[in-house]
Amino acid sequence: KMEIDKSLTLIQSVKALIDKELPLVSNLANLSRLFFEYFKNTSWAGFYLKKENEDTLYLGPFQGPVACTLIPFNKGVCGTSAFRKESILVEDVNKFKGHIACSSLSRSEVVVPIIKNDICVGVIDLDSNLYNNFSTKDKSELEEVANVIKDLF
Ligand code: SME
Repeated sequence: KMEIDKSLTLIQSVKALIDKELPLVSNLANLSRLFFEYFKNTSWAGFYLKKENEDTLYLGPFQGPVACTLIPFNKGVCGTSAFRKESILVEDVNKFKGHIACSSLSRSEVVVPIIKNDICVGVIDLDSNLYNNFSTKDKSELEEVANVIKDLF
């Protein structure tokens, strides 16, 4: 049954949705939709992925408006998260130095790195047009997701 079951927790839904036999892009495409539906007031949800021999992120599967295609490590929230290998919760994008505004409407954001063998292979990025839309609980849930989906890479 190809539907998102709203009675499941995020991590349960992730586990139900992913299939290790599938190409990565198929799993990430469905996960981006899951994040978009699960987190309230999300304007953009998706992935940036690490280029193979370069510390640059490229746009992966997502839900939302068209977005920046390339982000060097250490630039913007996504690049900083990838560089530091740490999650970043941004309550107000105006207060994050170097924030990359793909959408001028974006107000808050959460970025969680996906770490495999001590390398950041990509990040999960969620944006909202509301200030302070994401909580530390949301961040923790996404960290749990990142830890499960690293095995898809
Ligand atoms: N705001 C992000 C860029 C990605 S988009 O918002 C989809 C950043 O500063 O890394």
